[in-house]
Order: sequence, then C-alpha cells, then structure tokens
Amino acid sequence: MDSFLIRGPCRLRGEVAVSGAKNAMLPLMAASILTGGLCTLENIPGLRDTRTMMKLLDVLGVSSILEDGILTIDASGVSSFEAPYDLVRTMRASIYVLGPLVARYGRARVSMPGGCAWGPRPVDLHLKGLKALGADIRIDHGYIDARAERLHGTEIVLSVPSVGATVNIIMAAVLADGRTVIENAAREPEITELAMALKTGGADIEGEGTSRITIEGVQEIEPFSHRVIPDRIETGTFAAAAVLTGGAVEIVNCRPDHVLAVIDKLASCGAKIEATESTLRVTGPERPEPVDIGTGFYPAFPTDMQAQMMAVLCLARGSSTIVEHVYPDRFTHVPELRRLGARIHVDGSVAVVTGVDRLEGAPLMATDIRASSALILAGLVAEGESKILRIYHIDRGYECIEDKFVKLGADIRRIKE
Ligand code: UD1
Repeated sequence: MDSFLIRGPCRLRGEVAVSGAKNAMLPLMAASILTGGLCTLENIPGLRDTRTMMKLLDVLGVSSILEDGILTIDASGVSSFEAPYDLVRTMRASIYVLGPLVARYGRARVSMPGGCAWGPRPVDLHLKGLKALGADIRIDHGYIDARAERLHGTEIVLSVPSVGATVNIIMAAVLADGRTVIENAAREPEITELAMALKTGGADIEGEGTSRITIEGVQEIEPFSHRVIPDRIETGTFAAAAVLTGGAVEIVNCRPDHVLAVIDKLASCGAKIEATESTLRVTGPERPEPVDIGTGFYPAFPTDMQAQMMAVLCLARGSSTIVEHVYPDRFTHVPELRRLGARIHVDGSVAVVTGVDRLEGAPLMATDIRASSALILAGLVAEGESKILRIYHIDRGYECIEDKFVKLGADIRRIKE
C-alpha cells in the first residue's frame, strides 16, 4: 500500500489546474447504459473510481476506453444486469447502474452498499423512488433485485435532497411512461450536469438545479457526448491549502461559481480571493481567523470540504465551531489531526476547533477521500515529517495530487510499498 511522506512547513505558490469532477463523471458513465450506444465523455480524471466504474460497466457488457482524458463508452452490448459486491463495496456510487438498468432493460441486481467510515449511509430513498416509478424491488442475499415491465411517471417527494437518489430517479424516469416530478430534489451542479447530458440525448427534463425537477419520459435516449465540469471539491481543497499555508495560489480550469460557500468561509478566515469565470486566485493570511461552519446541501457549505476546512482552522487565531449536518459522524479525521497537535473537541455532530500556534509532523492514517486530503493539508504546515498511510483513499478522488502539490512548492512524495 502506498503512502505519502510530507516535510513541512511550506507556503504554497504558483498555479494549479483542477481535474474533471469525479461526482459528475460517475452518474454520466452510468447514464450511458440508457442509450445502448456510443457515448463520449471529456475531461475525465484518471482516478481509482474512474477505473472502478469502467470495471463495473465492463462486467455489465459495456466496454470503455480512457485516452487523454476522453472516455469512450460502448453501451451497445449490455449482457449482464448484476453489479457484484466486490465492486460495490469499493465504490458506493456503483448503485448508479440501478436506475438505468431497470429503466432500459427491466431488471437489475445490485449489491446493497454497506455503511462507510462515517456512518450508515442508507439507500432507502433510491429504492423508494424506483418503487414509486413502478419497479418491484426485493432484497435478497445482500442484493437489491429490481424488476419492471415498464416504469410509470409519478410524483416523488424526497425526505432528504439526496444526490444519489436524485441521480437514480432521474435516470429511471427519463425512459418512464409519462411525467415524473421530484420534489426536494438535490440541487448540486452534478445533477445539472447529468440533466444537460441526458437532454443532448433527447431527454425531456426541466428544473435541474432547483428543488423541483420535472421529467417527461421519452421512448429512447440517444448516445450523448459531454464535457465534465471541473471538480468543485478539488478546487476547494487547493483554495483551503493556499489559506492554511499562507501561500498564494492561482487555481485554473475551475468553476468558482460552484464553490461560493467555500470562498465565503475562506474569505472570513482572512484570505484575499479574486475570481474570474474559470480561475480563482487565493492569497492566504499570515494566520487564519476562526470561523463557524455548518455543512449542508448545495449551495450550502459542502460536507466534502468539512475535513479540509477543519485542517485550516487548526491553526486559527481562536476557536471555531463546525456543525456536520449531512453526515453527523463524519469526523474520522479528528483523531489523526490531534496526533499532529491539533485541539479539537467533538460532541455529537459538533466539533470545536481551538487554534494552536503550531502542528508537529507525525505518522497518520487516511480514512476516506476527503479526510485524507485534510491530512495532507495539515502535513504541509506541520513541522517535520508526516507519513500518511492508506492513501488509496485519496487516489479514489484526486488525480495526481502529489504532483500538483509538488508543483506548488510542497515537499511531498509517494512511497510505493
Ligand atoms: C454524494 C457524494 C458524496 C457527498 C454526498 C453529500 C457522490 C458519488 N458522492 O453522496 O461525496 O459527501 O453526496 O454531499 O456524488 N440519505 C438517506 N437515504 C438515502 C440516501 C441518502 O437518508 O437513500 C441521506 C444520507 O444519509 C445523507 C444525505 O441523505 O445524510 C445526503 O446523502 P446523499 O446526497 O445521498 O449522498 P451520496 O449521493 O451518497
């Protein structure tokens, strides 16, 4: 298992380009199943999750080739309807094949995703949505078994604006008979992307990006080509790194309009931030000011930036409060940050971070994608050496992250073991 060796402290300087968005790409890859044809996706990052989704599609009979960031998917030969446990357990988003398989082929068998490091993460809303559309759903031997002659449009009210459930319901509803309305739909940019791509394939969708999405079912979805948006969480991660290290970083190929809540909090920390349509120039303060944060659904502060923001606040000039509203247990990075000397007290879903003058390098363990990027950030400012183990988590969601940090002046290297 590879690890990262980081020597701090450092001040990041220079330019970094953001890769395509993992969470926008995964639904688009699954949506190719709806077309039964040849789809092309551009700006595809070379991530472990990309390879996992390619493997899953391959198991279903859908071949794909990734070359120079362009993914060509041939969905004309779907021959299996089962997403096996071995793949689903490494990537929960495997459940995205459920909606398209049922909608186009009338059947799907997908291993039930388990919990994860930060909580139970249920999929009940995905299943409720598909049931409401007329699918017969049973759980047997740890698998979701879904069947339907034909899906029928209906009104679905989500009790939580779940990204995953919204994705699955949209993909199922585009081929259903009649009109589906999703109330309290997720408003994340990844949903808008999915709707836009499906619309180029002839889908009839309105209201994406709002809480009410209306879908008129069509007979078929034509193969589509789409360029994936830049990753907003990677953008936020580099912006946070610039602030924490008191550096000056120009983030290019990004969408500042997708990270307004993050920009707002980093500005409150004392950062100077200048944005254009596709660039973000972030200059960190000598030392961050404390800020209070509550995570929430888009456009609120993203839970996927909570760990990185906590790393920033570890060195703040005072106490900050972080309330995790989306995943109340998502604090696996806290004991690791404490190993560097951070002062963090967690009570339920609330963390109080009391800024310290300095952090000290230590051996650390990555626990999930975003928690691991927070450990890198903290390692960049900790004095001395930090070794981060289990970095396969970070490879799931960040493309060439160490190369990007090295280019910005960090002393970080990958140790192959
Ligand atoms: C997606 C992102 C993940 C991010 C999360 C929240 C992908 C591949 N992953 O995950 O990085 O952290 O959004 O922004 O895009 N819920 C239910 N029942 C369900 C589904 C969800 O109760 O059936 C709850 C969850 O427990 C959570 C909330 O809804 O509290 C949001 O989860 P959801 O938006 O579904 O997250 P994911 O789509 O799994």
